Amino acid sequence: MNPHTRKCRLRPERLHLTHPPSLPRSNPLPYTLPHQKRLPKMLRSKLRSIAPHAQFPLIVNGPMMGVVSPALAAEVSKAGGLGFVASVLDVSAGSAQLSKLEEDIKACRELLRNHVDLTPRLPIGISFLTSHKSIGLFKETALPIVRAHKPLAVWLFAPQESIKPHAEIIAALKGLETPPTVFVQVGHLTAAREAVRDGADVVVCQGSDAGGHQYVRGSGVVSLVPSVRRMIEKEFPDKEVILLAAGGISTGDSVAATMVMGTAGAVMGTRFTVANESSYPEFRKEMVLKTTDGGTQTLKSSFNDLINNSPVWAHISHTYDGRAIIGPLHERFMSGSSLEECQEALHTEYTEDEAKKVLSTWAGTGVGLVEKAQPAAEIVREVREEAVETLKRATELI
Ligand SMILES: Cc1cc2nc3c(=O)[nH]c(=O)nc-3n(C[C@H](O)[C@H](O)[C@H](O)COP(=O)(O)O)c2cc1C
Repeated sequence: MNPHTRKCRLRPERLHLTHPPSLPRSNPLPYTLPHQKRLPKMLRSKLRSIAPHAQFPLIVNGPMMGVVSPALAAEVSKAGGLGFVASVLDVSAGSAQLSKLEEDIKACRELLRNHVDLTPRLPIGISFLTSHKSIGLFKETALPIVRAHKPLAVWLFAPQESIKPHAEIIAALKGLETPPTVFVQVGHLTAAREAVRDGADVVVCQGSDAGGHQYVRGSGVVSLVPSVRRMIEKEFPDKEVILLAAGGISTGDSVAATMVMGTAGAVMGTRFTVANESSYPEFRKEMVLKTTDGGTQTLKSSFNDLINNSPVWAHISHTYDGRAIIGPLHERFMSGSSLEECQEALHTEYTEDEAKKVLSTWAGTGVGLVEKAQPAAEIVREVREEAVETLKRATELI
């Protein structure tokens, strides 16, 4: 070890964290829960069964529309993470998005062919935003694609609240001869309970620091993960559900922090937006790299969807909103202009091209930690190694 690094390490004595005589070091902490001893072992073996190619902790890219290329997803899986291709919204018969999904899956298969075992399931995930009006057609249009291509995982997010389609979709997926592992992304405890009841294998706890879309009534990852874990232990003691964290996580030390709370790893979106293989437009990548303070320079608000009447999100803005990088129109809105005034300004003061540039650069609060473009595989390895190192160092604090 580099002697300099050793010198800089945080020693418990320096932090005044020595144990008081009333709590000897060898005593179990008063708040230790019975499950905590078996948790790491359970997580590893469960992870091996659901994603045999993957390494622990699991690093996953969010299935970002307009960002994830087949090359990005394939590189994430090659590096021992789990790569998801971009989400599909429209599952109507003949949907161009479903054709694109099939092309993406085929491209991933080619890219992975000589690198990982492709059987029995292709080590790639696919994803559906389940708020679209076509979602009732899932079994007729999307399920055959899952049956034919056998992806390792299917991710569901943003269910239409009035329809609640996930239970039926998950039952159909689980009925396949080679069923995928089902990921459901949630933003609060109630949605997590519903996801477990519906049959999710992996619950992605998406905190409100996340980039892109999320629950309006979301909570931060630090309270969401332990709440969900306790709920599962209490209400579903026989289920072994894997938890992943998402939202504001751009580095290995953040991943490590969520693992201490019981996750098997994390989903990152913003960090992958600037990956070399990402299809996020160059001007958006530049904005991500230029943004240094995710707290003051991003905004989670339905303003992001209502300002340009997003065809995907505006009609469900009471349930889901998004976090994006702040531009001049956001500043105007936050200084007191009404939504209507901002919409008017958008039409009269900006060309179509300029409007694109000041809106919809989705990014989480961890954006300031994203400092350079890198190959996706390098991101996966770097974050995983940093998480492991952080966990090792953390034991020195006690
Ligand atoms: C540019 C961008 C696009 C996104 N698109 C999707 C999407 O299409 N489907 C989805 O389920 N989540 C999407 N998300 C959310 C991610 O799944 C994930 O929850 C989020 O990126 C995690 O937060 P982080 O960006 O702070 O890492 C998107 C996020 C970003 C930043």
